[in-house]
Amino acid sequence: MAYFEWGDDLTVGNEFLDSDHQKLISLVNQLHTATQQGEGRTVVGEILDELLDYTKDHFQREESHMQRISYADYAAHKSEHVSLVNEVMALKAQFDAGNISVAAKVSQLLREWLSVHIMKTDKAFAVRLNAAT
Ligand code: FE2
Ligand code: FE2
Repeated sequence: MAYFEWGDDLTVGNEFLDSDHQKLISLVNQLHTATQQGEGRTVVGEILDELLDYTKDHFQREESHMQRISYADYAAHKSEHVSLVNEVMALKAQFDAGNISVAAKVSQLLREWLSVHIMKTDKAFAVRLNAAT
């Protein structure tokens, strides 16, 4: 069983959102596996970079769809994204400063945060997005 399992509870019923979320979850699992196997700074750092980039891109995509449909909860939803990115960037700064073990915290944080955010915040948005398109 994967560290972070994608399943029905995380399905929001929108193709673009679901496929982005599956990719995110797969990257979280890759990061977890790398840290569990004691991979070095280069390997873990590359996955961390990819995960951070993909997270930002995903949030950007969601936010542009929100703007396109004049989504009422845009500001609140976006502020959740901003605070998560800030948290991950703070951990990434520690990693870059030499604290490699912090990478395990990133996979843990993302697993917990994404579970809640996808099930509540993204699901609510998916309903509006599907209704508008
Ligand atoms: Fe999302
Ligand atoms: Fe979101």
